[in-house]
Amino acid sequence: MVHPPTPVVILLAGLSLTTTAARLQYSVPSRVPRDATPLDCTPVGVSMEFFMWPSYMTNITPPMQCISRFTDIYGEKMPIRIGGTTQDRATYDPSFDGYVSYTVASPLDAPDTLTYGPRFWDLINVYEGETMLGFNRGDNNQTNTYLAVVEAKERALNHLWAVELGNEPDVYLWQNKSDAVSPWNASQEGADAADWAQGFIDVWQSPLPILTAGSYAVAYDDNPEWPNTDYLINTAYNDTVKAAVRVYVGHLYAAPPGNNTLATEMNHAKTVSDLAVFADRVATAASVNRSFILGETNFHPYDVDMDATFGAALQTLDKSLHAVTLGIKRLFFHQGTINQALFNWWSDNQINAPFYGGYFAALALGGGDHIVELDSGNSSYAQYVIYRQGRPTKAVLLNTDYYSGSGERSNASITLDGLLSSKVKALRMTAASTDVTTNGIGTYPTIGGQYFSNVDCSSMGALRYESTTVSSGEVTLTIAASEALLVYL
Ligand SMILES: *[C@@H]1O[C@H](CO)[C@@H](O)[C@H](O)[C@H]1NC(C)=O
Ligand SMILES: *[C@@H]1O[C@H](CO)[C@@H](O)[C@H](O)[C@H]1NC(C)=O
Ligand SMILES: *[C@@H]1O[C@H](CO)[C@@H](O)[C@H](O)[C@H]1NC(C)=O
Ligand SMILES: *[C@@H]1O[C@H](CO)[C@@H](O)[C@H](O)[C@H]1NC(C)=O
Ligand SMILES: *[C@@H]1O[C@H](CO)[C@@H](O)[C@H](O)[C@H]1NC(C)=O
Ligand SMILES: *[C@@H]1O[C@H](CO)[C@@H](O)[C@H](O)[C@H]1NC(C)=O
Ligand SMILES: *[C@@H]1O[C@H](CO)[C@@H](O)[C@H](O)[C@H]1NC(C)=O
Ligand SMILES: *[C@@H]1O[C@H](CO)[C@@H](O)[C@H](O)[C@H]1NC(C)=O
Repeated sequence: MVHPPTPVVILLAGLSLTTTAARLQYSVPSRVPRDATPLDCTPVGVSMEFFMWPSYMTNITPPMQCISRFTDIYGEKMPIRIGGTTQDRATYDPSFDGYVSYTVASPLDAPDTLTYGPRFWDLINVYEGETMLGFNRGDNNQTNTYLAVVEAKERALNHLWAVELGNEPDVYLWQNKSDAVSPWNASQEGADAADWAQGFIDVWQSPLPILTAGSYAVAYDDNPEWPNTDYLINTAYNDTVKAAVRVYVGHLYAAPPGNNTLATEMNHAKTVSDLAVFADRVATAASVNRSFILGETNFHPYDVDMDATFGAALQTLDKSLHAVTLGIKRLFFHQGTINQALFNWWSDNQINAPFYGGYFAALALGGGDHIVELDSGNSSYAQYVIYRQGRPTKAVLLNTDYYSGSGERSNASITLDGLLSSKVKALRMTAASTDVTTNGIGTYPTIGGQYFSNVDCSSMGALRYESTTVSSGEVTLTIAASEALLVYL
């Protein structure tokens, strides 16, 4: 829920056309407002593309090294999801002794079909964190999928947080998946999803609830025929199936950017607009006492260069904070084919720029129990306040204006009042420009002056907190275009 704001916004034209300085003032409620949104204690997680799961675990080092940085923040393992398009191409072979088997023309391709064996799930026990595990529904072989389900339960139940039957079933017809029969609208898909869920319940038995429901690719609000979780809850699912569902799930990518620039795509108002459709989905899930999550998300659905930039890190941060403010419990940032998907947080030997945004979001939300957003969601500037045990503990001030790296860098000057402390300290996330990637030699975003080591994901360089005096309960902080400030109140 977005906290009702009373901002004073003055836009001052600067000396050149590109220079403006925004001044905003917000009051920080000194006690947690009644409409503040409760926070999960591990809100930011990652989704790993199904066929890549063994590679993320065993072939490259950055993911697990960087996830341990989240563990330090959360005090527990980051939740993960194993799934994606290739879960609906996977055949379970109980006698196969490896993790996965497939053939591709290039290591940057995803396989059209793959086989996996029981050892695939042993890696979940190695990971030891809450895992949302995907199974194949798209190929329409319930025998094979339920065989796999029973064996996964046998091997990895202790870490299975949720079970997903099918990835993005709303686009099965378009993908020519055999499970989808035209017309593949909300009623066809809903009945099929319920049938699969009931079949699962019959073989799984307990513990319940454990299923996810939805996992839809597209959250069109204007097409009543399109499958959506509201339809599952209100129409397709009976009480038995609803009782077995642990969590309702949507996926979110920004529409392909076309000619849109990074400046447009990363803007706070755009992020708010992209997430808006989920407010109703969260409410419908809550009406049956269930949470709603983004089971798979990242910047764009098709690779575009901007997805690897520092601007993507800012979008990752803003999306995480605004999503949890809407009541979305968790977000799983998708990691696709290694060295191929531009939004990936890691390559085989490198920490990528978007990771900085995910890490900063965890730093902001970790330890918090409620959040409010102070802004109205219609400008480039976002302000969030995180509460713990009734008191404001942190604020995030975000300036999503673009900066090319040359010329004067605009800034926003934000005054927070109602503060009780005598001074605040802050960590700044910044980069030389919005377009910075970690692909160049020695170019990095920084958080408190530090960057992540490609060797072990440790923080390199001296950590620098900024300290600002509070006078009469007020502090004024400046956030340049494409910067974020985490303020410890
Ligand atoms: C479905 O899976 C079962 C069990 O793995 C297998 O025996 C059968 O051949 C599969 N059916 C099809 C049509 O592939
Ligand atoms: C689905 O099948 C049609 C007809 O064979 C083909 O043109 C199309 O490319 C296929 N779509 C996908 C996503 O494979
Ligand atoms: C609930 O729905 C499932 C799936 O449609 C169906 O198989 C099952 O019989 C229904 N249960 C009851 C109690 O009606
Ligand atoms: C889906 O399509 C079927 C067959 O055309 C139609 O009867 C039904 O009303 C549609 N349902 C929804 C929810 O759109
Ligand atoms: C991009 O701009 C070009 C030139 O104006 C236009 O022809 C094209 O349709 C635009 N593409 C998209 C996806 O908007
Ligand atoms: C709502 O679900 C939670 C578990 O998610 C359970 O502990 C609680 O009892 C449920 N409340 C109601 C009213 O069913
Ligand atoms: C944003 O919305 C608020 C509240 O509705 C309004 O006061 C303000 O003028 C809007 N700002 C812009 C830039 O549209
Ligand atoms: C913010 O921008 C204004 C207007 O360009 C400029 O005068 C000021 O020095 C900038 N402040 C900082 C801290 O960069």
